[in-house]
Amino acid sequence: KLAETWKELEFPELQNDLLLRAANGEETPEAPVWMMRQAGRALPEFRALREKHEFFKCCQTPELACEITLQPIERFKRISGSILFCDILVIPQALGMEVKMLPEKGPSFPEPLLDPSHLSRLNNKVNIDDTLGYVFDAITMIRKKLDGRVPLIGFCGAPWTLMAYMIEGGGSKTFEKAKQWLYRYPEESNKLLMMIADACADFLVGQVLAGAQMLQVFDTWAGELTPHHFESFELPALLHISRKVHFCLKAISHPDVKITLFAKGVHAPQSLRLISDPDVTGYATLSLDWQVDPVEVREIVGKKVNFQGNFDPVILYAGREGIEKEVERVCKLFHKAGGGWIANLGHGVTPNVKPDDMGWFLECIHKYSKR
Ligand code: CP3
Repeated sequence: KLAETWKELEFPELQNDLLLRAANGEETPEAPVWMMRQAGRALPEFRALREKHEFFKCCQTPELACEITLQPIERFKRISGSILFCDILVIPQALGMEVKMLPEKGPSFPEPLLDPSHLSRLNNKVNIDDTLGYVFDAITMIRKKLDGRVPLIGFCGAPWTLMAYMIEGGGSKTFEKAKQWLYRYPEESNKLLMMIADACADFLVGQVLAGAQMLQVFDTWAGELTPHHFESFELPALLHISRKVHFCLKAISHPDVKITLFAKGVHAPQSLRLISDPDVTGYATLSLDWQVDPVEVREIVGKKVNFQGNFDPVILYAGREGIEKEVERVCKLFHKAGGGWIANLGHGVTPNVKPDDMGWFLECIHKYSKR
């Protein structure tokens, strides 16, 4: 539907393009900064809304998703990007699975995929416009309400991370059920990963046509795989997503968008090299977790890819002095590493962080990231 109507959408002019410039490889005068899980989680204004509305209801109601997306933008004037309020688990829902968000426990699938015979439950030919059109409506509304203050980032989960939830039925310490699939049922695993990837690609294209200006793919559990399984199962699925997104946009003469890959825990030099040539992978930026040194990663991957990250989310509990010292230290590393840099945490904001400490972190980035 959006393939025909996107040209008619008109949005306010962008005032702060620092984020898009860094994603384009520019060494910006100061680093753009945003925080994974900035929408929701720690903000009292989010918790107040959540008391009144169920989690997925917030995702499904464009007015609510819009309000939550804008909460950190209204609160923190130093923030350089907004991220859509939604969840990666809307793709399993679109494929036909039920997902609940339990208080304290997180996501739960009443009927996870126990073995490959359950693949027939999934809707292979899902129409993303019909199932997730509410996300596209939210995005268009957000772009208007943002009024050009900062760019809007769209996102999806990565195939392996989503497969893990669909099989485990929720979070896991060992991922033994999902990983067993890779060892026992390689062909069916591949089929599932590609089915998810294809839906993710359609979802991201729809997000861009609705107004998302950048994209991120969240592979939170990539580091649970051996380098071999990351490279042979997950990487082809990740490449299917980026290639389909770039291809579809080109096919309808839509300007291309930059995609960031957050492959948390992927540290093996060979794996890092395989995800670091944007001309091959279609991912312009790697979002690094806090367990790597950006200077060392730069030596391994070369100069083509941009970095995002990689502050330990726990520094937000370190008090003003602790935050400032750590921001100063890590800024020096990224300056030394060179290339485009988007300052961020190495994973999401944790639930008990004080909003003022998030604000202070942003101030410190503003101060110490100046080149
Ligand atoms: O970054 C943002 O603020 C945008 C919105 C966003 C949410 N989830 C909202 C959310 C994004 C980008 C996500 C991504 C997501 N969701 C990931 C990948 C990134 C990561 O943090 O690892 C994953 C693994 C999920 C799945 C998920 N959703 C889990 C495991 C949980 C439960 C526990 C938790 O971590 O809070 C959620 C719930 C969720 N998604 C909340 C929010 C604001 C809190 C739920 C609540 O209000 O009850």
